[in-house]
Amino acid sequence: MKLDIQNVSKKYSATKYGLKDFSMQIDKGILGLLGPNGAGKSTLLRMIATVSKPTNGTIILNKNNIVKDPNYMRKQVGFLPQDFGVYPNLNAFEFLKYMAAMKGVGGKNLTTKITQLLEGLNLLDAAHKPIGSYSGGMKQRVGIAQALLNDPKVLIFDEPTVGLDPEERIRFRDLIHQLANDAIVILSSHIVSDIDTIADKVAIMKKGELLAYGNQETLINSVKDKVYETTIDRDLLHEFKQKHMVVHSLIKGGKTIVRFISEHAMEGASLQNPTLEDAYLFTTKTS
Ligand SMILES: Nc1ncnc2c1ncn2[C@@H]1O[C@H](COP(=O)(O)OP(=O)(O)OP(=O)(O)O)[C@@H](O)[C@H]1O
Ligand SMILES: [Mg+2]
Repeated sequence: MKLDIQNVSKKYSATKYGLKDFSMQIDKGILGLLGPNGAGKSTLLRMIATVSKPTNGTIILNKNNIVKDPNYMRKQVGFLPQDFGVYPNLNAFEFLKYMAAMKGVGGKNLTTKITQLLEGLNLLDAAHKPIGSYSGGMKQRVGIAQALLNDPKVLIFDEPTVGLDPEERIRFRDLIHQLANDAIVILSSHIVSDIDTIADKVAIMKKGELLAYGNQETLINSVKDKVYETTIDRDLLHEFKQKHMVVHSLIKGGKTIVRFISEHAMEGASLQNPTLEDAYLFTTKTS
């Protein structure tokens, strides 16, 4: 499996680009797509899923131009859109049957397949209740299940962990690992902790552009010897933030512990082991 995004732009209006001359090669495995709100994550994922078309550039899947021939992608893609809506009056079982029909997935094993998906996503008990009565996280899991109906080779999840509680996140991660053996899996988020335990590779984007792309160690290395922690007076936090790139701060007693990124050592500050969150902040703030 190989997905090649070549100089893709998406122009929404004369001055508004969702994506700008964007190029990236994606192999099988799990890719985490990180970027702040408005970075262009959904714009990119919708074009890969062939829900929308680039204004410029091409997307190639295994030598097939999927902008010209979207059906090649559609046969093997599973997509969870960010704004996934469900039919409140159908139950999960009926909804998945309906989605299977829309995708042309059928056969005598369909009931077994749906049951397995419901079980894998911990929805079996609720399968015959209307989706309208589900919690947000349960609806999200129905969305994940429909993306898996056709045993996709390209799986695209736009903000999949939104609304999932910690236990369901772990189930989701295990499920994705099982699926990623022979498939391209792309997950987007603006929260580092949503993807750092799942993704093999990470791409960081902002304002429609790719800022960094690589395996987690490589990205984390970009902030090696730059992450510090120090304790300051609570009142000084605002001023400290003006001068330094603060990752986070923690109030303890009358003092504040701050984690920050700096090119230079600072008296009283201790060097820390860098994390993906440090790298993400550094990459998005310095560009
Ligand atoms: N249909 C549209 N018409 C006009 N502008 C759009 C449209 N969709 C997206 N945009 C703009 O394109 C840019 C990228 O949006 P996009 O939704 O792809 O970002 P995102 O990274 O998915 O953000 P979020 O984290 O909020 O989901 C934003 O500036 C957005 O306002
Ligand atoms: Mg989005």
